[in-house]
Amino acid sequence: MTPKYCLYLNNGLNFHYSGLTFCNKLWIGDTYQKYEDDYLKTFFDNREHILQDMQNGIVPEHCKNCLYLKDYTNEEITPKIKFMEIYHWNECNCACFYCSNRHVTKLKMTQKRNIKGVIDVLPNLKKLQKQNLLDENLEVTMVGGEPTLLKEFSGILKFFIKHKYGINILSNGIYYEKYIPKAVKASEKSFLTISLDSGSPEVFKQIKGVDKFNDVLKNIKRYVKDAKDAKNRIMIKYIILEGVNDSKTEIDKCGIYEKNGEIELIIPHIINLETANMNKDIISSAYNLYKKDLVKKINKY
Ligand SMILES: C[S@@+](CC[C@H](N)C(=O)[O-])C[C@H]1O[C@@H](n2cnc3c(N)ncnc32)[C@H](O)[C@@H]1O
Ligand code: SF4
Ligand code: SF4
Repeated sequence: MTPKYCLYLNNGLNFHYSGLTFCNKLWIGDTYQKYEDDYLKTFFDNREHILQDMQNGIVPEHCKNCLYLKDYTNEEITPKIKFMEIYHWNECNCACFYCSNRHVTKLKMTQKRNIKGVIDVLPNLKKLQKQNLLDENLEVTMVGGEPTLLKEFSGILKFFIKHKYGINILSNGIYYEKYIPKAVKASEKSFLTISLDSGSPEVFKQIKGVDKFNDVLKNIKRYVKDAKDAKNRIMIKYIILEGVNDSKTEIDKCGIYEKNGEIELIIPHIINLETANMNKDIISSAYNLYKKDLVKKINKY
């Protein structure tokens, strides 16, 4: 049988809230290794077997039909991790109605800070570093839940600052975390993206369920100021929601902040809701609810 290859199977490790996975192409319930016993070691042992099977053309059940699966040519097979996502907790201080995590994983709303993930990720990162299993070009995305609520967050950021790995932080910006701008400055591969999704307190509240537009704006300004030369790696994310925030006026109001001298480099980053999951039979419920004509609207602006 033809040998098979997948970049993520070779080089991916995700701390999902229900276990370890290779990639985020799988949806909830399809974890490769639950957080039981010596889960990190078991994950790597199992991966060894899977990679051997792949060399013989045998593909794990979950990967069948995946767009990322291809015939092996001469790609480097290395044990090092290059891609990582961290989303091992399930709480947020917002309730965005479009949020796929809220719809699919039953994200819990909380105003508490210092919450714990289902496991501690930082000791695992340190273990991987010690075992020389992190690639020097490692790129990590911190997804969540809301990362600024997580007890481990500043510790995780300090780890990335120390080793200069790239970290892509997604936050709603309600809380300011002082290590975020430091992490953004530490590596050219580090970014902060704030999901503002609105140009006014009213629309913000309608989408996110909390009245925090002005706090977020204040924090964006602070992040930009503290990130200094790295401020162009801070972005505002604006998800277009039909009939809610899709008027030109609302989008322009968000754009105003571009012209404000202090944060002139922030460009609202307009995206559409996520499309179908790579495993074709599973589609995000949020996408199902709001997919209508969104792309057409985005193109108009
Ligand atoms: C789940 S949130 C977690 C991080 C943080 N709470 C935030 O809002 O940025 C991660 C990112 O996913 C985006 N997101 C949530 N639901 C989505 C959906 N249905 N389609 C596309 N992006 C979505 C959010 O806007 C955010 O940028
Ligand atoms: S589901 Fe797809 S992307 Fe994920 S490990 Fe399998 S083949 Fe790779
Ligand atoms: S702030 Fe982020 S995690 Fe929280 S509900 Fe909104 S998109 Fe979801």
